[in-house]
Amino acid sequence: MKPNLLIVEDDESMLSTLGDLFQQEGKQVICAPNGQKAMDEFFKNQPDLVLLDIRLPDMDGLSLLKKMRETVPDLLVIIMTAYPEVPTAIQAMKSGAYDYINKPFELDELRLVIQKALETRQLKDEVKRLRQQGEYASLSTPILGSSPATLQLHHLIRMVAEAPKTPVLLSGESGTGKELAANAIHYQSARAHGALIKVNCSALPENLLEDELFGHERGAFTDAKETKKGLFELADGGSLFLDEIGEMTSSLQPKLLRILEGEPFRRVGGTREIKTDVRIIAATNRDILDMLEKNIFRQDLYFRLKVMEIRLPTLRERKEDIPLLANHFMHLHSREMGRSEGTMTGEALELLMSYSWPGNVRELRNVIERAVILAHGKPIDREHLPLELCKSAIAERFKETVPLSMDLKLEDLEREYILTILKKLDGNKSLAAKRLGISRSTLIERLKRYH
Ligand SMILES: Nc1ncnc2c1ncn2[C@@H]1O[C@H](COP(=O)(O)OP(=O)(O)OP(=O)(O)O)[C@@H](O)[C@H]1O
Ligand SMILES: [Mg+2]
Repeated sequence: MKPNLLIVEDDESMLSTLGDLFQQEGKQVICAPNGQKAMDEFFKNQPDLVLLDIRLPDMDGLSLLKKMRETVPDLLVIIMTAYPEVPTAIQAMKSGAYDYINKPFELDELRLVIQKALETRQLKDEVKRLRQQGEYASLSTPILGSSPATLQLHHLIRMVAEAPKTPVLLSGESGTGKELAANAIHYQSARAHGALIKVNCSALPENLLEDELFGHERGAFTDAKETKKGLFELADGGSLFLDEIGEMTSSLQPKLLRILEGEPFRRVGGTREIKTDVRIIAATNRDILDMLEKNIFRQDLYFRLKVMEIRLPTLRERKEDIPLLANHFMHLHSREMGRSEGTMTGEALELLMSYSWPGNVRELRNVIERAVILAHGKPIDREHLPLELCKSAIAERFKETVPLSMDLKLEDLEREYILTILKKLDGNKSLAAKRLGISRSTLIERLKRYH
């Protein structure tokens, strides 16, 4: 967006000279010859920078400065003073002016001061953005895996990254890596230098979400003491990640659709139309088709989003990636705990491979983290894994190995199981009883029955 400059100056010829000059330089310029007009224009246009003559016919420039800064605390104001007014300039600086310039000045000098101010603002915004992202950056991992499904995902992400205006819909079960994919799309695209702003549509009630997304004008509602830019404005030039888009209420959906169609929007309580250049990356783990049928989600919005839909594969569909992911998380969590990289037994890995992972990669990560703690520096083994993994592994194996024709009685099965365990533990009855979850005397009694 072009920087928006408000010039307040009572000398008409000076005002029009400055106005023309900055307009030619590609800035959006608003001119005001007095304090009242300045205040009106200020509220209407939300300038990025104000060039303010301290002596005005109808108002004291200093109190105008204070009023503006009360509304927009980080507003950039450059004061113009006549030479004998240095003490006023100092006072202006104390009231939060960014800089001042003495009249008469060379135009180049003014240009430099303004350029410096705008650059400082950009730097500050950049630092703010990096700080917000820093938190994530330290957690972020590349998308790991070499299964066909993962390779296909990489391929799709690269294609989408090359089309930096097209909205993207990421769908997939919980924990499949939708947020990770959103990061990859943003950082591989031409928008990487811009912000990636994330908002979870289910985390806020409707009116707060609207306020977050679109911002508001001062006085739009009782608590709106200051003008606030919305995320659509803050993400200008970058990407906006709308997580859990399925939770967006039906009154906000048409507003989003208009933005996706390239139309301007207004802040809450505002009249000025704002245009923004943002790529929307939406994510959902709900079945959108089902939501369309129930009329919870608008069809036109869905059609706009699904132009580029990427479905994240479940972990079940890419079992081949489990060893790599498991090792990665094991190394990660071992290092976090100040241990060496850690190892895992073949049996443990087999269990990980045969489980169905309803919570996908996130669940795998959590299971490994817990195992690293329990293993306490020893190789991760089956006893460090949650019981449901072992149970489900047995169930899986049964499905494959127990045909109906086998005609196996429960009693036969019990005997086989008890004898197998006992044999595996070299006939040690105490250990076998413990493994089987029965007392030693019960085990002995069963064994007598078998002979
Ligand atoms: N392919 C992968 N390689 C490495 N880590 C991954 C991969 N996929 C997911 N993860 C990790 O799994 C966890 C969950 O990923 P993410 O938060 O992106 O999932 P999600 O699909 O957004 O889940 P939800 O729907 O619950 O929000 C994160 O810790 C992420 O780093
Ligand atoms: Mg997520």
